[in-house]
Amino acid sequence: MKLPAHFAERVVAWQRSHGRSELPWQNTRDPYRVWLSEVMLQQTQVTTVLGYFARFLERFPDVRALAEGTEDEVFGLWSGLGYYSRARNMHRCAQEVMARFGGRFPETAAELATLPGIGRSTAAAVAAFCFGERVAILDGNVKRVLTRVLGFGEDLSSSASERLLWEHATRLLPPADDREAIASYTQGQMDLGATVCLPRKPSCMLCPVNDSCVARREGSPERYPVKTRKLRRTAQSLWVLLARDAKGRVWLEKRPAKGIWAGLHCLPVFDSRDELLAALPAAERGRCEDLAPFVHVLTHKDLHLHPVRIDGGTPRGDAARWVEASEWPGLGLPAPVRKLLESTGG
Ligand code: ADE
Repeated sequence: MKLPAHFAERVVAWQRSHGRSELPWQNTRDPYRVWLSEVMLQQTQVTTVLGYFARFLERFPDVRALAEGTEDEVFGLWSGLGYYSRARNMHRCAQEVMARFGGRFPETAAELATLPGIGRSTAAAVAAFCFGERVAILDGNVKRVLTRVLGFGEDLSSSASERLLWEHATRLLPPADDREAIASYTQGQMDLGATVCLPRKPSCMLCPVNDSCVARREGSPERYPVKTRKLRRTAQSLWVLLARDAKGRVWLEKRPAKGIWAGLHCLPVFDSRDELLAALPAAERGRCEDLAPFVHVLTHKDLHLHPVRIDGGTPRGDAARWVEASEWPGLGLPAPVRKLLESTGG
């Protein structure tokens, strides 16, 4: 495949004049901050991440503080960002950095990628930003930029095509003798993907590599990247027990380490209404009130949630307790559970 001329050089120059440069995780080589920001940015927009990043750092200023924090506190600070496996892996990663590396993040992408929650692209981003390593990244935004510039029409559902694109990404890196370039290049590709080379209606006029972009020449850049195997969405119904005591406290359980909402605090959930009723003494079951069901959309599935309310009941459950409203914000509660609590009297 023919590589575009001066690609890295142009991305670097564009990043330095037009890219983002004042974000709180930039202008630092502290791997803890960079890693934290990269994980938060994986599925969340910059504007949302800003507040979370600041609060997280205030409570956990370094990797030791995070490793020594409790999982519940980490979930609490993450509350609202979603994709809680990121928070759990982050906590484990901090503990491994302490245990395996004496509290210092390793300095190569290859070693970083051995840590929980750090995939190949995140490892490369941290290594490039903090340690100047010359390695390629390939997150969703960068895949879009590169497939378009190259006119790479292979199906990225196949791991062989994905590997091939990684090879192209590696060949496009700036030259090894330019030690300063890799950080700007890495950030530049992310910025191009996030602000110019958009999924729909890309702003090709503003793109520094538009004259060598195959997709643009072909006339329909939106065709790239090609991905035929779409995620198969599924649906699941869950019954949710909303039990309150006389003081207005709510019965919350800590979810098991595996499965939906692993490790979070949650209203007890069940696969059927009968199973839910079985968690209450027989004499109380008739007092249950079915609330309006609602759908909560996750990445891979639609959850059909059926809340069932009981006031003054005595539910059973391991790892469950009555929790006051003032405690809820500090706990990681799944978004639909938070919504339900808010809409039924806070
Ligand atoms: N998305 C992922 N990493 C990013 C970064 N460093 N800056 C902006 N957006 C990003």
